[in-house]
Amino acid sequence: MATVSYKDLGLVNTKEMFKKAMAGKYAIPAYNFNNLEQLQAIVLGCIESKSPFILQVSSGARKYANQVLLRYLAQGAVEMIKEAKSPVTFALHLDHGDTFDLCKSCVDSGFSSVMIDGSHHPYDENVRLTKQVVEYAHRFDVSVEGELGVLAGIEDDVEAAKAVYTHPDQVEDFVKKTGVDSLAISIGTSHGANKFKPEQCTRNADGVLVPPPLRFDILEECERRIPGFPIVLHGASSVVPTYVKMINQYGGNLKDAVGIPEDQLRKAATSAVCKVNIDSDGRLVVTALVRKVLAEKPEEFDPRKFLGPARDELKNMIIHKNEKVLGSAGKA
Ligand code: G3H
Ligand code: 13P
Ligand code: ZN
Repeated sequence: MATVSYKDLGLVNTKEMFKKAMAGKYAIPAYNFNNLEQLQAIVLGCIESKSPFILQVSSGARKYANQVLLRYLAQGAVEMIKEAKSPVTFALHLDHGDTFDLCKSCVDSGFSSVMIDGSHHPYDENVRLTKQVVEYAHRFDVSVEGELGVLAGIEDDVEAAKAVYTHPDQVEDFVKKTGVDSLAISIGTSHGANKFKPEQCTRNADGVLVPPPLRFDILEECERRIPGFPIVLHGASSVVPTYVKMINQYGGNLKDAVGIPEDQLRKAATSAVCKVNIDSDGRLVVTALVRKVLAEKPEEFDPRKFLGPARDELKNMIIHKNEKVLGSAGKA
């Protein structure tokens, strides 16, 4: 693919977004996308709630949807926003990049932000790899996110059985040595729909699992070491019980699914957390609605009839998150 700058595509990097989010005590939503309906829901939801956003693409998404097509879909989203005369801007971000070559390829093909996730490497190797990506990306004004600490669950095709919380005493050195623009930390979130084991949780009066609180003490200690520096929260889906219930009601089998309660995310968004990553919640909404429509209308075989309602519900969920959880609504 020919080299292209994100600036020519009408995208923005994360610098201004994070500066405003830090000052305004809210967080920018980072939504993963793999297909047309997810993109429509994200773009329409953010236009309607006037929220800046980050459109994230994992390496799995690049493989699934074709990297060239994905690039043009994102470019199409810019045009769609212009056509709607909306002030909304967004960054196109590589989620969990694991090699220099992958990050370079994204920078060269119009991404405005990349994550290099060296969190599974020993500290010095994480520093070396992250610095290498920063040196390349900054030549083109592309933002770079690094990570310190390991989230439990599936990250980068690697399944970590146990979370390793970020050591606050490493963050200052890491940021200084690498030159990253933002830092993902591990304070108790994890990827996927089963973020906690049932034995880690209590049950409320309705029998719903209530997870242990996030480690705000670690977050605060990190903030103290790198004041005013943008922090990123991965694995931040709430795993909304309504959708888990709907999935199970219509033939699914999701056991002990539990996520991060919205009040915890709200609290995080008012801190130095400037970016909140959400993927699983979108997957759950789509699965719930597709299952419901197909179960209720077994004669249906037009994909628009089950993907359409899924897309509309996803859009509503995005508006809800922007307005009520992250506080990014109205900030475009
Ligand atoms: O953190 C991982 C994201 O949820 C992306 O997941 O690699 O299955 O696309 P994926
Ligand atoms: P969830 O699985 O909680 O949605 O996290 C997504 C994420 O961190 C993407 O990088
Ligand atoms: Zn992640």
